[in-house]
Amino acid sequence: MRVSEPILVIDDLVVDFHGRKKGESIRAVDGVDLTVSPGEVVALVGESGCGKTTTANAVLGLVSPTSGRVTVGGIDIANADKAALKAARAGMQMIAQDPYESLNPRMTIGEIVLEPLVIHDFSEGDLNARAAQALGHAGLNPPKEFISRRPHELSGGQRQRVVIAAALSIQPRLIVADEPVSMLDVSIRAGILNLLQSLAREDDIGILMITHDLSTVAAYCDRIAVMYLGRIVETGPTLEVIKSPQHPYTEALLSVVPSHDPDHSMTPILLEGETPDAAKVPSGCRFHPRCPKVFESCPMVEPDLLEVGEGHRAACLLVSGLAD
Ligand SMILES: Nc1ncnc2c1ncn2[C@@H]1O[C@H](COP(=O)(O)OP(=O)(O)O)[C@@H](O)[C@H]1O
Ligand SMILES: [Mg+2]
Repeated sequence: MRVSEPILVIDDLVVDFHGRKKGESIRAVDGVDLTVSPGEVVALVGESGCGKTTTANAVLGLVSPTSGRVTVGGIDIANADKAALKAARAGMQMIAQDPYESLNPRMTIGEIVLEPLVIHDFSEGDLNARAAQALGHAGLNPPKEFISRRPHELSGGQRQRVVIAAALSIQPRLIVADEPVSMLDVSIRAGILNLLQSLAREDDIGILMITHDLSTVAAYCDRIAVMYLGRIVETGPTLEVIKSPQHPYTEALLSVVPSHDPDHSMTPILLEGETPDAAKVPSGCRFHPRCPKVFESCPMVEPDLLEVGEGHRAACLLVSGLAD
């Protein structure tokens, strides 16, 4: 892969929210480091409630970090002045989970695709040609057959392609896709994921792909970051992580990924215990109450994210040799 400056740098990001009880504070994101380079698809994976959307919202400037920093194209999102923030926003786009909700039913497809250009004050050139080009690029061909139609006339997969076309119209350098296929029919997911992967490859766009379902996206991303209760517990190149997961949580997530090699298919690991709650983070290793490999020290010692291979890191006492 090309070596280039990351388009997105998340540095020790912490995000706290007020909890439901008075005075209670919830740490939704707890010290996350993550980068995405141009041309790269990075998957942020974890169960519901682990802090994925909050991380995405901090990238988009929709929530402020309690501490730490998010920079997009070198611009510090939380501390940028108005003009710099506008420039950063014009370079990134969000693709939300639900194409039914994210498209205005009263607008035509052409208007929807042009909207980001209007918001970001693009006025150069032929905007209609640009909309048609974005539609074609998102696989809606021929584009002119879609321009005057409305969202309800399209299938779920076509609507998500319209969302992607709208994102592409401003030629972003970073796309944050939050569960981009989870609301779509299983049969059309691969087409959308393929499209996102080819946008990264061909247009040098960095893509942060957020998902609770590693099995669906693993084949389409270059790197994986596994998140558990606000923290990254394992990260590395996709093949590396899939071939030799070092964290028992990653192992459990991967045990449900279908394998094409019958010698390597795993028995699904079912995680026991309560589903995690950001208002009640367990002591020591936060995964210990559900960990099939829990040791005596796990409730006492919080493991650091340590290097286990080239660009591959895991936070587990088994890795740091502290388990006994
Ligand atoms: N605006 C908010 N106010 C209070 N708590 C929140 C808010 N947004 C998210 N949370 C809490 O933060 C945690 C992480 O949520 P979220 O980032 O949405 O997780 P995910 O996208 O991984 O499902 C959850 O415990 C959630 O209840
Ligand atoms: Mg979410």
